[in-house]
Amino acid sequence: MKRLGVNIDHVATLRNARGENHPDPYHAALHVVKKGADSVTIHLREDRRHINYLDTKKICKLNKVLVNLEISINNKIVNNALKIKPNYVCIVPENRKEVTTEGGLNIIKNKNKLSKIIKRFKKKKIRTSLFINPSLKDIKLSKELKVDCVEIHTGKLSNLVKLKKKYTTELNRIKKCSILAKKLKIEVHAGHGLDYKTTKILNKIKEIEEFNIGHFIIGESIFIGLSNVIKKFKKIIKN
Ligand code: PXP
Repeated sequence: MKRLGVNIDHVATLRNARGENHPDPYHAALHVVKKGADSVTIHLREDRRHINYLDTKKICKLNKVLVNLEISINNKIVNNALKIKPNYVCIVPENRKEVTTEGGLNIIKNKNKLSKIIKRFKKKKIRTSLFINPSLKDIKLSKELKVDCVEIHTGKLSNLVKLKKKYTTELNRIKKCSILAKKLKIEVHAGHGLDYKTTKILNKIKEIEEFNIGHFIIGESIFIGLSNVIKKFKKIIKN
């Protein structure tokens, strides 16, 4: 069965908007797993725009929650991650000005650095993944780097689907990459910009073992969860 990882960074974004403690990503981590998520993803960004160091430490200490920590190749962040010891890490590119992770890693440019980082995580038995674009060359390079998993960036596919444009070429690219990765014994994950429709489309690729989804799940929960919260308030103010 394919696994679902829920990215809870947006819970921290909402909390930070008020500078108070609610909604707490620590409780969100516990809650999403209680409700069926297979793991929780958090991204400790260099600019700490959502999840902070303390959140990361607390969430990674949770026994019943498998935590996938997204990190850049920044030395300080890597050292922090090795200290905190999440269950999994996913190495992603990071650009200060981006709204979200806009593409996969430039593996060629960072090959030596990535190789050293992957070795350090493997030594600690932490499952390590690389966030990559759907490119066969990057799959082959990932194999050379002896990484456990790749997460294929699905942002382009998602945009095409949302804009009702032709997406078959991009889908085939993701499929070919997934088949090659599986053949090379690299576990395949997919993530970025996924919603119900794009996940349904990608679910047909049997080589994909894990989906990591954030923005849509948190956004959609507002609508699905709103009725319960309103009912609770109506009950409180009834008398
Ligand atoms: N996977 C990775 C590696 C990411 O960087 C992100 C975005 O933080 C996601 C998945 C989730 O993307 P989205 O929030 O668009 O679902």
